[in-house]
Amino acid sequence: CEKPDARPLRQRLLVVANRLPVSAVRRGEDSWSLEMSAGGLVSALLGVKEFEARWIGWAGVNVPDEVGQKSLTKALAEKRCIPVFLDEEIVHQYYNGYCNNILWPLFHYLGLPQEDRLATTRSFQSQFAAYKKANQMFADVVHQHYEEGDVVWCHDYHLMFLPKCLKEYNNSMKVGWFLHTPFPSSEIHRTLPSRSDLLRSVLAADLVGFHTYDYARHFVSACTRILGLEGTPEGVEDQGRLTRVAAFPIGIDSDRFIRALELPQVQDHIKELKERFAGRKVMLGVDRLDMIKGIPQKILAFEKFLEENSHWRDKVVLLQIAVPTRTDVPEYQKLTSQVHEIVGRINGRFGTLTAVPIHHLMCISAGNFKRMAGLLSDLCGIALDPGHAHGSNVVMLSAPFSSPFLIAHSQTSMYSGKELQFGLHIEKQTLAYKADRSLDFYALCALYAVTDVALVTSLRDGMNLVSYEFVACQDSKKGVLILSEFAGAAQSLGAGAILVNPWNITEVADSIRQALTMLPEEREKRHQHNFLHVTTHTAQEWAETFVSTVETFYNTIPLCNHN
Ligand code: G6P
Repeated sequence: CEKPDARPLRQRLLVVANRLPVSAVRRGEDSWSLEMSAGGLVSALLGVKEFEARWIGWAGVNVPDEVGQKSLTKALAEKRCIPVFLDEEIVHQYYNGYCNNILWPLFHYLGLPQEDRLATTRSFQSQFAAYKKANQMFADVVHQHYEEGDVVWCHDYHLMFLPKCLKEYNNSMKVGWFLHTPFPSSEIHRTLPSRSDLLRSVLAADLVGFHTYDYARHFVSACTRILGLEGTPEGVEDQGRLTRVAAFPIGIDSDRFIRALELPQVQDHIKELKERFAGRKVMLGVDRLDMIKGIPQKILAFEKFLEENSHWRDKVVLLQIAVPTRTDVPEYQKLTSQVHEIVGRINGRFGTLTAVPIHHLMCISAGNFKRMAGLLSDLCGIALDPGHAHGSNVVMLSAPFSSPFLIAHSQTSMYSGKELQFGLHIEKQTLAYKADRSLDFYALCALYAVTDVALVTSLRDGMNLVSYEFVACQDSKKGVLILSEFAGAAQSLGAGAILVNPWNITEVADSIRQALTMLPEEREKRHQHNFLHVTTHTAQEWAETFVSTVETFYNTIPLCNHN
């Protein structure tokens, strides 16, 4: 290991992630609208400010023509983003296939999709080939934009092949790789046919980072057991070349949330929500609509709570925001129907004319909102306040719907192009409309602020920043966080939260009762613990520590040749 030169005041950083922080939607031959992307990676990296950063990634859209590619490149340049253009076939095989149908479930201990197990096994080789090809395409773009001294920070399971491609281009590049998901036990990782290739490629980085010490340990074990390499307290050694491996727990830009609470538009939302839910305790879940988030399990636990605590039935409401994601992957489509079905059943069971226990929140653009408002008016003679379509972001649909939705829609009509078709059941009719993927930031802050109990019940989760965001917005209310012990955040917020096993719905139901009846002093104590953590361990601190560690320990020793 060599000590690098002193760090310039504003380090140039190339952030490389599968998804750019904005997703593009084509409006014309050379006209684009850009909307913030969803997910923990994006929200954390937006909090990183002290670098001269460029972001390289996929804009979430197929742009086959040169005119489109040029105009999108220009539009993204204003946001310091550089696109990697992936065609539909690559996206299908690399993103939907290898990344989200194989690596994602495996890294979250969910195994391969049950029904598709054999089909997945058969298509494995072609998907892995596409994965490598896509990673090479990212490397090509990095290579074009790289300047000597840049730190190249590769993110997540989509880009495990990237460190190797980059070092093959230029061995003196400073390369870090960070995983935003769990790294599973080596016994799980070893079931992957491409297990060794992936490990070796990641080891080409100078620094490999994880959210928790456990994930780092699993990675080192996989390298020792599968590759037969030596694990040291600092990392993994291969023929004299050391790759540092360590835990760097991520954080959020807590100030952004705290400041937002003071804004008039957020205060208006808060007032509106308080009026709407007066006399009821508010419970909140905010999740991408993903199997790992344990949404059906959470809703079933809430049902059990209502079953066993009948006096609470008209005194509590669960707001479940589900942000649509990866809607082309069949497992995600199945999950959507499953959640809708369970919510409908429980609302049918416990709902009354004036109150329903679960509000399922979806994100919808203003354009789609208008379309839906028109349909509502034609079918049921119900007029939605048109002001809602332009001004406010949260609209409540109440009786006579059998399963009412609270709908958050963005201020603008931009949407990411990744849409999900779903139905709203009104008496015997179904309205089909499209949900968009992003949730308005101010509406989200207001929802966090009025919440009494947040429910984060991931079956596995790399970190889970929703729990951090909730804590940041709770300094006046001091609400309770119920948190899965399988989320990385359990290691940092565990002392302030009520920790639960999300698979055990009886335990989660009990924790709901405990949270709703917790004494103020106890809530205060727990909240202070978490608030201190969230406001001191920020995204900025996380990024600075990671990047300075890459700079301190970058390798000039060439990669070992294993061919
Ligand atoms: C998780 C992953 C991110 C990903 C995000 C959204 O947070 O760790 O890498 O970007 O989910 O998923 P999507 O597939 O929509 O990019």
